[in-house]
This record gives sequence, C-alpha cells and structure tokens, in this order.
Amino acid sequence: MKHEVVETNLGLMIPLIILVVSFGGLAEIVPLFFQKSVTEPIEGLTPLTAVQLEGRDIYIREGCHVCHTQMIRPFRSETERYGPYSVAGEFVYDHPFLWGSKRTGPDLARVGNKYSDAWQRAHLYNPRDVVPESNMPAFPWLFSQKLDASQTAAKMTGLRRVGVPYADEDIAGAAEAVEGKYEIEALVEYLQQLGTVRSGRERG
Ligand code: HEC
Repeated sequence: MKHEVVETNLGLMIPLIILVVSFGGLAEIVPLFFQKSVTEPIEGLTPLTAVQLEGRDIYIREGCHVCHTQMIRPFRSETERYGPYSVAGEFVYDHPFLWGSKRTGPDLARVGNKYSDAWQRAHLYNPRDVVPESNMPAFPWLFSQKLDASQTAAKMTGLRRVGVPYADEDIAGAAEAVEGKYEIEALVEYLQQLGTVRSGRERG
C-alpha cells in the first residue's frame, strides 16, 4: 500500500503535508494580489496629512487599537450601528492596518465627524466627563506633550516607498505642519477623518 508508506514515514509525510497546505494557501492568497478591489484605493481616498499621520502613530502608541477595531463587517447589526461596511480599498494606504480584533469599545472605522472636536478632546481628557458609564482610560498627557516633528518627513518617505502617493511638497512641508502642535490635536485630526470617504460625514 503506497499510502501506508507515507503514513508510517514522518520524514516523508511532513514535506508532503507542507506541499498540500501551501497549495491551498497559494490558491487563496495569490489571486488577491491581482484583484483590483483589494489593491486599489477607493475613489476619493487621500493619504493622511502630516499631522494626521502623527495622530495615527499616537493612536498606535497609546494602544487604542487594542480596544477598538477599525473594521465594520457586512452584517446588518454592524451597518445599522456604525455605517457602511468596510471595503479593502479604504485601507491600501494603511501601513500597518489597524483593523484590530477586539472590541472593548465600539468600532471606530467611521467615527470621523460623528462628534465635534470639542467632544473628542473632552472624551480623551476624561471619558467619564462625557460618557459617565465609560471604562475607557483617560489620556490627559496628550494635552501637554508636543509632537516630535523630526521624524515626520522620514515616515512619509518610508510610506511613499511602499506605495502611498505623497508628493515632494507634502514631505517638504511635513516638519513645519507638525512643529509646535500638541499630541491631542494630531490624534483628533486623525480620528475626525476616519471612514469619512464612505460615510460622507462632513466636519460639524
Ligand atoms: C481599555 C479599552 C480602551 C482603550 C485602550 C481605548 N478605548 Fe476608546 N472606548 C472604550 C470604551 C469602553 C468606549 C465606550 C464608552 C465611551 O464612549 O467612553 C470607548 C469609546 C471611544 C470613542 C467613542 C466611540 C463612539 O462611537 O461613541 C472614541 C472616539 C474612542 N473611544 C477613542 C479612543 C482612542 C483615540 C483611544 C486611544 C488614545 C482609545 N479610545 C482607547 C475603550 C477603550
């Protein structure tokens, strides 16, 4: 029995399993590289400004993505609550993406312009001031720490290398745009654009 030869020989079975599994993986993954709907930006998508990009880095530094997803699944319960479901083309400029996997707090994929800037600031200073039952941590230090403008241009150059269409002027003006601003300003700028291309929410 040929099968018995394989089943009783680990040295043969392991490479054969790897071969079979990798065929399955390749058949699922490789076509995605060529599918426009997952590799091309949706209409109207623009790269983050220098200040928004710094805000995104603060979002990562403070671990916001550990409690908040940025991915609305195509279920009625989600679209009724959060707005249009997420599509791949919204994330092509995200490196790394911040879809997340756990919702201690609500999804933030379309939180842009849902609240005023003042609400966002008050909420981040102390969530309980605006949502009494909240168990989200407070982030008061964002109001006294200034952004580090020295790395912004380098970050944008790096992102351009992986396909984010920053123009030379964007990069040249990055440090000036970021210099002197507080971390809270950048974080709010970042939050206020989240998902707005598809939600259509205007700044209120
Ligand atoms: C420990 C988990 C946790 C962390 C970390 C966390 N949040 Fe939250 N967040 C929550 C919870 C719970 C709520 C719901 C209660 C509320 O609105 O405060 C919430 C609500 C929000 C909302 C309102 C969403 C809506 O649609 O009403 C925003 C915006 C938000 N968080 C932003 C942030 C940002 C930005 C950070 C990082 C600086 C952050 N959160 C970190 C748990 C967290």
